[in-house]
Amino acid sequence: MQLNDKVAIVTGGASGLGRATCTQLADQGVKLAIFDLDEKAAKQAAAELSETLGSDKVTYALVNVVDEESVASGVSHVLETFGAIHMLVNCAGIAPAGKVLNRDGDALALSAFSQVINVNLIGSFNVARLAAEAMAKNEPMGEAGERGVIINTASVAAYEGQMGQAAYAASKGGIVGMTLPMARDLAKLGIRVNTVAPGIMGTPMLLSMPEKVQEGLVAGIQFPKRLGLPSEFGDLVAHICSNAYINGETIRLDGGIRMQPR
Ligand SMILES: NC(=O)c1ccc[n+]([C@@H]2O[C@H](COP(=O)([O-])OP(=O)(O)OC[C@H]3O[C@@H](n4cnc5c(N)ncnc54)[C@H](O)[C@@H]3O)[C@@H](O)[C@H]2O)c1
Repeated sequence: MQLNDKVAIVTGGASGLGRATCTQLADQGVKLAIFDLDEKAAKQAAAELSETLGSDKVTYALVNVVDEESVASGVSHVLETFGAIHMLVNCAGIAPAGKVLNRDGDALALSAFSQVINVNLIGSFNVARLAAEAMAKNEPMGEAGERGVIINTASVAAYEGQMGQAAYAASKGGIVGMTLPMARDLAKLGIRVNTVAPGIMGTPMLLSMPEKVQEGLVAGIQFPKRLGLPSEFGDLVAHICSNAYINGETIRLDGGIRMQPR
């Protein structure tokens, strides 16, 4: 897809990987709609991006991805503002740790497990289904006749979840699992669905972990031996958006890491 002047929703666009994705897409002239729970950060991100794009090409909405009405009203806002939706990048997510049994032998609260599944997995699907509904109304674009592209964010924890990551790994495994069937469901409409599975990226989510935990994680990276850059994630997202032949796939972006139990 030719990206210039197309419209993208980026969930979690106020921080980390979502924020970096906004910058990379803005550099290609994409009109941006940030969906985030953190309204203050979303507003600030939109103001910064306006400097590159112009204020008429950036908007934001206070959206909770798990809430049907909140997402529906966010999608309506984008359609009213820009007239169409061509790309969705699902970056909103949470990563609380919690073992099945804690040190005292108490079981993880079921609500803690459900919350992670809700935000990361159900939230991603919730935005994707409503964005797809809007994309289906686009006229076919380019030689391939594309109508849109959806990119989800999983994690290498989908494959090698560490101790304390049962809920997080389950949520990300669900994202990997739904990628191909979603791509199959939407193929006739010319809408592609792909997923990026990042390794250890230098974002607030990761940098808020204790230094010892961060060092342990970096030790397992093959090359380059450092945290991944959010801009490397944004670059990959922009490439997936523009390359019509990438479909139904999950791409690891991880410097070759295979995570150990802890
Ligand atoms: N940072 C990493 O190393 C790493 C690795 C693998 C996968 N990921 C995944 O990448 C995604 C982005 O992570 P990040 O590191 O940029 O995190 P981050 O905490 O910097 O950003 C996440 C954003 O999502 C928003 N958000 C959270 N819950 C929301 C909700 N219910 N509705 C709307 N917005 C919500 C937050 O307000 C925040 O702005 C997540 O899905 C995360 O699991 C991150």
